[in-house]
Amino acid sequence: MQKLNSKLKGPILCFFGPPGVGKTSIGQSIAKALNRKFVRMSLGGIRDEAEIRGHRRTYVGALPGRIIQGIKNAGTKNPVFMLDEIDKVGTDFRGDPASALLEALDPEQNNSFSDHYLEVPFDLSQVLFVTTANTLDTIPAALRDRLEVIEFTGYTIEEKEGIGRQYLWPKVLVNHGLDGIAMGEAALRLLVTKYTREAGVRNLERQLATVARKLAKKKVEEKEVPAEIEVKTIHASLGAEKFPETLSQATDEVGVATGLAWTQVGGEILFIEANLMPGKGNLILTGQLGEIMKESAQAALSYVRSRARSFNLDEHFLEKRDIHVHVPAGAIPKDGPSAGIAIAAAIASAVSRVPLRKEVGLTGEVTIRGRALEIGGLKEKIIAASRAGVSEVIIPADNEKNLEDVPLDILKKIKIHFVNHMDEVLPLAFVATPPAKRPSRASARSGAAAA
Ligand SMILES: Nc1ncnc2c1ncn2[C@@H]1O[C@H](COP(=O)(O)OP(=O)(O)OP(=O)(O)O)[C@@H](O)[C@H]1O
Ligand SMILES: [Mg+2]
Repeated sequence: MQKLNSKLKGPILCFFGPPGVGKTSIGQSIAKALNRKFVRMSLGGIRDEAEIRGHRRTYVGALPGRIIQGIKNAGTKNPVFMLDEIDKVGTDFRGDPASALLEALDPEQNNSFSDHYLEVPFDLSQVLFVTTANTLDTIPAALRDRLEVIEFTGYTIEEKEGIGRQYLWPKVLVNHGLDGIAMGEAALRLLVTKYTREAGVRNLERQLATVARKLAKKKVEEKEVPAEIEVKTIHASLGAEKFPETLSQATDEVGVATGLAWTQVGGEILFIEANLMPGKGNLILTGQLGEIMKESAQAALSYVRSRARSFNLDEHFLEKRDIHVHVPAGAIPKDGPSAGIAIAAAIASAVSRVPLRKEVGLTGEVTIRGRALEIGGLKEKIIAASRAGVSEVIIPADNEKNLEDVPLDILKKIKIHFVNHMDEVLPLAFVATPPAKRPSRASARSGAAAA
């Protein structure tokens, strides 16, 4: 495009995705490829508008804003300028840095950006701004509107192995003054699956560095260094496996559903637990659930109550019982409507005493009448599910269109069920069908009368 019209104002890119998937690195690579200077500025925790726009020179110790400083350091008018962590800009009494950014980032106005220190308008229109974010929710709407969002998703196991082999391991070796040590296939797979569980590759890089450090020590001590890293080398240098259990080894339990969640650090699986106890019909919710998730739990319970008969339960089964729904991994606040189906399945399992199949991942919003509604973040969720060993996933039928984003090798491994209604979920997720309700005397009699 720049070839056709060199004055074209480039869009302001926003790389959005979980940590460690290469957003900052791609920014650097863009600068290298365009042969331009690279400037990086982290916006995380900036609360003061003056950081962006500078101080008036009447103040003692006044400075220009960070954008102008960055450009000054780069020494050119057209660097690639990375504004990292744009989702973490704060606001307080010293002004609103996000609105100062609006002017800098608007291609229509930024040819005359006003910095308080400079006092003359500065032309930012040739700067290529690239921003990064882990979530889009906290970016003010007016600012988001100016950004061309490009989504980065978490890596699959195979992609991580590829990155580990071709890029991280050679880099780690050089950093540790080693060379010519091959990384065995089984060893790398073990590292990726049993020692890390993340969307990006930072942890993987750290684990590889630990292995290399141990080897470097051996070399310095003039002990024998293996020519290829094997499984036993990994065990010896990293100790016990950090994520030994895969889902397939866990047992199916009553009242425990495997939910798929989306968080700022990528997709994740959550075990949602439901239990019944003597009480007065209350719904107790724990595990740092946000308002929306509490409402989905209420909706899920209403659905289960409306289906009490099909679970062989008396309609008044809740009068003397409380239901407790808990979502472990409590330190992380969780919100979003997408756990409705999983919560409903956990409650249904708890009241019917039929265990749920652990290897079936559930995601979807549920209405009080049991309809399954579309959810977001499907790609991340399915990638995370496969990472954790889930073999079947139940998703709302409306999400079918999102499947085209999911890598093919993952779709080959995971069976996907589309559902429109909660009634379709339970037969798929339950280990067995709940025992049929024995016809009570009253209904047998009315049946006879009808006949
Ligand atoms: N595709 C890849 N190939 C090679 N290395 C990669 C790839 N993706 C990520 N890495 C490596 O992972 C590390 C983290 O990447 P980077 O700093 O770009 O992450 P990020 O997406 O900016 O994360 P954050 O949101 O936490 O800032 C870097 O050392 C980078 O080299
Ligand atoms: Mg980054």
